Amino acid sequence: MIKGIGIQETAERLRNYSYLGCRSIKILSGWFLRLENYEYKYKLAYHLYETSEHVSWYYSRLGEMRGGNAHASIRPELSEICEAVLSAPSDGTFLAGYYGVFQRKLIEAMKEDLEKIDASGNANEARLFTRVLNDLKIQQAWFDSLGMEWENLGWITYLKNFMGYIGGIHGHEERGERPLSPIDTPFERPNRILFDERIQVGPLQSYEQRQALDINEAVIEQFKVFFNEFFAAALVASVLYDASDGSYPWAMLADFSRHFWDEARHSEFGCVRLRELGHEPDRVNPILFDQSQGLPILHRIAYLTTGLEAYFMPRKSKRWQEYSKSGDKRSLLFADQDWSDEINHVRYGKRWTEYLLEGDHRDLNDILDEVKAHLSKVRGEPVTDISAPF
Ligand SMILES: [Fe+2]
Ligand SMILES: [Fe+2]
Repeated sequence: MIKGIGIQETAERLRNYSYLGCRSIKILSGWFLRLENYEYKYKLAYHLYETSEHVSWYYSRLGEMRGGNAHASIRPELSEICEAVLSAPSDGTFLAGYYGVFQRKLIEAMKEDLEKIDASGNANEARLFTRVLNDLKIQQAWFDSLGMEWENLGWITYLKNFMGYIGGIHGHEERGERPLSPIDTPFERPNRILFDERIQVGPLQSYEQRQALDINEAVIEQFKVFFNEFFAAALVASVLYDASDGSYPWAMLADFSRHFWDEARHSEFGCVRLRELGHEPDRVNPILFDQSQGLPILHRIAYLTTGLEAYFMPRKSKRWQEYSKSGDKRSLLFADQDWSDEINHVRYGKRWTEYLLEGDHRDLNDILDEVKAHLSKVRGEPVTDISAPF
């Protein structure tokens, strides 16, 4: 067999992979909200970010190629398989379907591509596929580590048959019959964030209450607020999910994929530090996320980045100085990373609100006024400033 694949064939493969990557952003952000185990949510958030990096790599390679239009002639079947994976009826079937069927098929296709390509003639693809496969191998290892009994689930047979019906990732395999869906309801993005029985919804101490505590107690309460950054991750997840079906530039989804993972990491900082301090995370207050639902994408972005994140910002350097002064190096590490990330988030917010408002008669202040009017309606009292109860 002569090794190597030409530009046209390579472009077709990269188009398939980039499209599936984009749809995976929708699948993972939707299931981030719905999956109840919060440690699994952290993994999904990281996998979403990795997927967005892969899509950026595919697009950048396609951009260099003759005839590398990333969006030309996507097979409609690829959209159907992604909708099928998304519509899993439970947490277990979602994990088994996404990682056990969908991602494994993707890995199989990419490994086959890697076997066909020529190390020198297709050096770009060799490098790209090897890097992606390396990430996916680690994602698979995490799924395997869950030790789920999943191979015999009816849902798995359905998805495998669906993969057969579309002829595999590239549509080149022998095709079977279209299987009947075992469920009648499509996936609906939750407008609240779900947790298992370990996490209760309830109020957190206010900033002023925490300031009045002695330093040891204050650190614990501060890391409960870190853990609660689930609200911010959920808000960005809702933006990613909804924007996946719109015509937004990829660079915007890439920035918010990063923003999303950052917020999930900040919550994980809370989880890690609370455990070190002898406390198990047990509470969230998702009110800021809950009240953002119903707002358009532009308004949700403006509310979070130029409203809430700007509101929290003055606390960041103060907290950094407190930990630095008290010699609490572990807390300092987390506060340091968080502060740095937050500066980026405000930057993303500025960039994308400006972009989304291009050609509109309103400016950012008008949008924030509209957000306040929405919050006033939801809270049943006038909201004049964007602030947080914790
Ligand atoms: Fe954050
Ligand atoms: Fe943030």
